[in-house]
Amino acid sequence: MNDGTTTREGIRIHQPADFAGMHKAGKLAARILDDVGALVQPGTTTGEVDDFIRQSVEAAGATSATIGYRGYQHASCISVNHVVCHGIPGDKLLKDGDILNVDVTVIVDGWYGDSSRMYVAGKPSVKARRLIQVTHDALMKGIEAVRPGATFGDIGWAIQEYAETQRMSVVRDFCGHGLGRVFHAPPNVLHFGRPGKGPMIEEGMFFTIEPMINLGRPETKVLADDWTAVTRDKSLSAQFEHSIGVTASGADIFTLSPGGKFFPDID
Ligand code: MF3
Ligand code: CO
Ligand code: CO
Repeated sequence: MNDGTTTREGIRIHQPADFAGMHKAGKLAARILDDVGALVQPGTTTGEVDDFIRQSVEAAGATSATIGYRGYQHASCISVNHVVCHGIPGDKLLKDGDILNVDVTVIVDGWYGDSSRMYVAGKPSVKARRLIQVTHDALMKGIEAVRPGATFGDIGWAIQEYAETQRMSVVRDFCGHGLGRVFHAPPNVLHFGRPGKGPMIEEGMFFTIEPMINLGRPETKVLADDWTAVTRDKSLSAQFEHSIGVTASGADIFTLSPGGKFFPDID
């Protein structure tokens, strides 16, 4: 290459100094998601949650990566119950027992921080709690598979093998992605796969892992609004997302919760 950058199979290799920028962006996304927790309760609308996120991004002097992205108009995606991802915030009222993913991407000094988590309004069902736990643990198993010399197939396998053992299914239609000074870059980070397959993981790669797990079948469809993805069988779906960087020994998580609130409080 002639622009001083290094890539492997089109995947950018970042420099040690670049990790600091990603930590700053990731921490802001995580702090905003920490603050969202208090708002999520029966009677709140998803639009009110998005307004809070938009104001928080602005108050931090940062930029929302999603406002204006391919025509998207909101500071978050909010995906309730059988919505898999890309739910559009609006006047939908949260009700007791709803489970929802809130996904926020911010830009700080040109670096992108992308994270999402599950929240509950009121008291969720036993099966909804189990889905949230399995999805969280699937993400963490995927992150544990990250180290130089492993492959992206190892990450996908760790997630798939765990979710399917729990008799849940992995969504195939959406994936994680490289990021850094851009929102979506190579590679596609699949949440299913086979050990040893796919590109090699190297120190300095930055990407998200963001598995979507369904209680029923894996198939999805996108609604007429061209964004909202739902399970075809209307079964519940959950998702957690971290942005990470590959170090010499494993994964550096850029979007760790400052308040230790990544997993929701369920009473
Ligand atoms: N944050 C999402 C992701 O994890 C992308 C949202 S794009 C939007 O990649 F336009 F729908 F907001
Ligand atoms: Co993402
Ligand atoms: Co995201």
